[in-house]
Amino acid sequence: MQPSMAAAIFALLVVVLLAPATTAFNITKILKKHPEFSTFNEYLTQTHLANEINHRQTITILALDNSAMSSLLSKGLTLFTLRNVLSLHVLVDYYGAKKLHQITDGTTVTASLFQSSGDADGNSGYVNITDMHGGKVAFAPADTGDLNSFFVKTLVEMPYNLSVIQISAVLDSATAEAPTPEPSKVNLTSLLAAKGCKEFSRLLSSTGADKTFQENIDSGLTVFCAGDAAVKAFMPKFRNLTAGNKTAVLLYHGVPVFNSMAMLKSSNGIMNTLATDGANKYDFTVQNDDETVTLKTKVVTAKITGTLVDKDPVAAYKLDKVLLPRELFKKSAKPDSAPAPAPEAEDAPSPVADGPTSDDDDDDEVADQRARRGSRNDAGKINGGGLLAVGLALCYCALAAL
Ligand SMILES: *[C@@H]1O[C@H](CO)[C@@H](O)[C@H](O)[C@H]1NC(C)=O
Ligand SMILES: *[C@@H]1O[C@H](CO)[C@@H](O)[C@H](O)[C@H]1NC(C)=O
Ligand SMILES: *[C@@H]1O[C@H](CO)[C@@H](O)[C@H](O)[C@H]1NC(C)=O
Ligand SMILES: *[C@@H]1O[C@H](CO)[C@@H](O)[C@H](O)[C@H]1NC(C)=O
Ligand SMILES: *[C@@H]1O[C@H](CO)[C@@H](O)[C@H](O)[C@H]1NC(C)=O
Ligand SMILES: *[C@@H]1O[C@H](CO)[C@@H](O)[C@H](O)[C@H]1NC(C)=O
Repeated sequence: MQPSMAAAIFALLVVVLLAPATTAFNITKILKKHPEFSTFNEYLTQTHLANEINHRQTITILALDNSAMSSLLSKGLTLFTLRNVLSLHVLVDYYGAKKLHQITDGTTVTASLFQSSGDADGNSGYVNITDMHGGKVAFAPADTGDLNSFFVKTLVEMPYNLSVIQISAVLDSATAEAPTPEPSKVNLTSLLAAKGCKEFSRLLSSTGADKTFQENIDSGLTVFCAGDAAVKAFMPKFRNLTAGNKTAVLLYHGVPVFNSMAMLKSSNGIMNTLATDGANKYDFTVQNDDETVTLKTKVVTAKITGTLVDKDPVAAYKLDKVLLPRELFKKSAKPDSAPAPAPEAEDAPSPVADGPTSDDDDDDEVADQRARRGSRNDAGKINGGGLLAVGLALCYCALAAL
């Protein structure tokens, strides 16, 4: 087979394997069957909450009918503020009608999507559910405890993934209704500094890399910032870089697409960064194990240790280590460059991938593809013959589609 054809097949295969995980349900489609909730449904889409809901495994939606929505809309809130209000109506746990009536001690508080947005102070992101006397179930924002909204009926129950129930009125929360700036007006460096990435934020400003991050907010941005201790430990290496490479390392910590935590947890694969351009890949692999999400660069593996903000179109997460792109750093444990293995070598990670930046050649490309393949658990098991068969099958499909 021609090398170029093999490469084409491989590219096709990589694209297919890295397609995002399919979601369990489509809330827009589900609510379409209930026309009295059409306004609520429309705003779930406009605020991008529908997308976030579809990526969750366990969720309860406190739906508002068209008349409850019209009283909410009459307040004239901006779309960004409405998003906060509606996200308070999405609980990240499963509450079917039965569970609502069996709450231990008759009252509980449970987290909503507003809690993870970064805009909820104290317990304002939690919802109080109280089983009143006579079997009536009431809801309130946990910070007010004003139980003014009641369970009306069940719309959908898919235990224990999705429950959609109607409540009688909007959960009235001054915190959720507080004006929230348009994403493009968010000052990213100030936000990162205020939420625990002070040193990283300082580097963004001092190099001017902050401008690139800021410009990408409107179209969706995910920032992975290393914590202060990690940045301080990295400073001797950072000072050694040229100005251009300093900027590249920082841009390597930004991804020009919004990724909520739920999205990171539901899809493994390669991510391009703000530093990616043509010849320079500057990419890394996202991998998740149960609740932990790690980023692997071939030089280091960093772990997400916290969420600073997670609100479409901007997400920022804290890492325990600075991400070191293999384009600029070697794995320090192996200072000597091991001889490159033959391209046919098996799936074990290649020493070439950790080697000096100078060997960004064809062997490296093969190592890279092997690493991509290895990044999917199941894909790693495909042997050469199987790979070829799958690749050919894909080619036939592609041709048949023409
Ligand atoms: C969900 O359903 C709606 C309405 O049927 C459709 O427009 C939308 O594309 C679907 N979304 C996904 C992610 O499939
Ligand atoms: C929920 O609110 C009610 C009324 O304000 C309060 O009595 C109850 O303690 C709250 N429940 C929890 C778990 O905080
Ligand atoms: C709930 O989600 C799990 C995992 O995504 C899936 O296997 C299961 O079939 C879903 N259950 C229902 C009722 O849709
Ligand atoms: C963000 O705030 C800092 C400090 O207040 C300021 O120096 C910087 O210019 C601001 N950035 C933008 C993009 O407004
Ligand atoms: C910085 O560069 C100098 C000169 O190349 C080298 O001796 C030193 O080890 C480097 N320091 C770090 C932390 O990489
Ligand atoms: C980045 O560093 C590499 C060597 O590590 C060097 O070859 C390259 O010129 C530097 N790039 C810039 C833009 O300074």
